[in-house]
Amino acid sequence: AASAEDDLVLLERRDSGVAVLTLNRPKALNALSDGLMRALAEKLRQVDADSSLKAAVITGTGKAFAAGADIKEMHSREGYSDVRGENMLAHWNSVSNTRKPIVAAVGGFALGGGCELAMACDIIIASEDAKFGQPEIKLGTIPGVGGTQRLIRAVGKSKAMEWILTGEMISAQEAERAGLVSRVVPAGTVLEEAVKIAEKIASFSSPVVQLAKECVNAAEETSLAEGIRFERHLFHATWGLDDRREGFQAFSEKRQPTWKHR
Ligand code: CAA
Repeated sequence: AASAEDDLVLLERRDSGVAVLTLNRPKALNALSDGLMRALAEKLRQVDADSSLKAAVITGTGKAFAAGADIKEMHSREGYSDVRGENMLAHWNSVSNTRKPIVAAVGGFALGGGCELAMACDIIIASEDAKFGQPEIKLGTIPGVGGTQRLIRAVGKSKAMEWILTGEMISAQEAERAGLVSRVVPAGTVLEEAVKIAEKIASFSSPVVQLAKECVNAAEETSLAEGIRFERHLFHATWGLDDRREGFQAFSEKRQPTWKHR
């Protein structure tokens, strides 16, 4: 069973230091079952632990990035005490706990948990055929892995409320206008565009990249004053890194830096 579960997410290591993680349950539109999310958590753990990998891209297959958490699997739970007892979906936190940056390459459906998974990544690149949305209201439930919290931070209250309370699908173009995605690219190119961005990130000092990610994320969790203090600490901490010295030295010598901790 372990190996069948393992195949639900494919991990490809590129020489550029980028890991491409492909959600691989195309017949179910990549519905995010417990097994798939366990496989994803395990592969993200491998990415964080492997010093030759600097960044990851998460992508889907065919018609979907992911059409949500697995509705049939969740329906097999009987009542509040079941889902509370097992803390259903709590293990999804592994995505946002990953220290290396993750780019979501979204083509097709990114609905419910699929939209929430994309939002738990650091940058979202959308194919022009991508469709986002939080349709849980249509199932008689609400988003359960960060949707109500991350969407409002991404697009503001009025749009977040409209999208969550109507359950309507959002086009890639609207998602870009609203600030949910960083850019929209032609259909068929989303994975390579996301990989290019991840490769650019992977070309820099990996510890510095991880500090920058941690700082930006702190902005969503703290007050402005606390966030600025946190940033100042991590900024000062870069003075403890060879790579900071090298970056500044290279600038003075008008040459390209050679990162020790790429
Ligand atoms: N869970 C389980 N199975 C799913 C699924 C999901 N979220 N989404 C799609 N599938 C399955 C379908 O049941 C179908 O399986 P069968 O072939 O065995 O019938 C297969 O994937 C193909 O799907 P469709 O035939 O429905 O494809 P379509 O092109 O006609 O429609 C769709 C596409 C509009 C995305 C439709 O599949 C759909 O509405 N899916 C559910 C979207 C949704 O409600 N997502 C939110 C889930 S709840 C959640 O995520 C909670 C949370 O916050 C964590």
